[in-house]
Amino acid sequence: MEISYWQSRWKKDKTGWHMEVVYPKLPELWPSLSLPAGSRVLVPFCGKSLDMKWLAEQGYQVIGVDAVNKALVEFTSAFSESFTKSSSHGFDIYTSNNIELWQGDFLKLPASKVQHIDAIYDKAALVAIPQTQRKDYAQKIMTLCNPDTRMLLQTFEYEQEEMSGPPFSVPEAEVKSLYGTQFNLELVHEQSKFDELAKFQQRGLSSYLIEKVYLLNPV
Ligand SMILES: C[S@@+](CC[C@H](N)C(=O)[O-])C[C@H]1O[C@@H](n2cnc3c(N)ncnc32)[C@H](O)[C@@H]1O
Repeated sequence: MEISYWQSRWKKDKTGWHMEVVYPKLPELWPSLSLPAGSRVLVPFCGKSLDMKWLAEQGYQVIGVDAVNKALVEFTSAFSESFTKSSSHGFDIYTSNNIELWQGDFLKLPASKVQHIDAIYDKAALVAIPQTQRKDYAQKIMTLCNPDTRMLLQTFEYEQEEMSGPPFSVPEAEVKSLYGTQFNLELVHEQSKFDELAKFQQRGLSSYLIEKVYLLNPV
């Protein structure tokens, strides 16, 4: 997807993916990462997700990245802490005590400036990317990883022919082919999403929609 597509979605407030609550599976599944407080958590394609606030409240240092300024400004204005604004490598950066938000193209994020990532939280990020661009995204993720970086990854699976994304269907075999050399995959959650299926019916989806969450530990 071009960044202009996402800019237009944010401009028109067409942000149907955004949840006004913390993603319910996050508090349930996050402990499986066994990540000590103080660890640095990268949230690619973060939007204005309240999950970042939850992660910060657990004592983590959160680094969110989104291409669209409006997403980050809306996140900062809903947050009680104040943020300072700076810039580096073509990114605007909003910084508070334990949250850093980088505004720009994730693929251009300077690895030298975003070091020591202990965990990655991929929620509605990989599935926001068309199949032809997913390899570049996964490669970028892996360049930002240390040997012991772990990841929680949420995906959807459905008949891709029935509906054009986003969200795109990312089958388990593709997750394995993108990340299998660097990570062991464990499926930690699987659920049929009947509500979302109904929501996407007008876009053509009719068979099934399954949400899967994987825990990725380094091999
Ligand atoms: C489906 S939304 C998910 C947002 C968030 N993870 C959530 O669950 O609410 C995808 C987000 O990725 C952002 N995005 C798309 N392409 C991007 C890119 N190349 N670099 C950084 N952010 C990008 C969009 O602006 C959008 O906010």
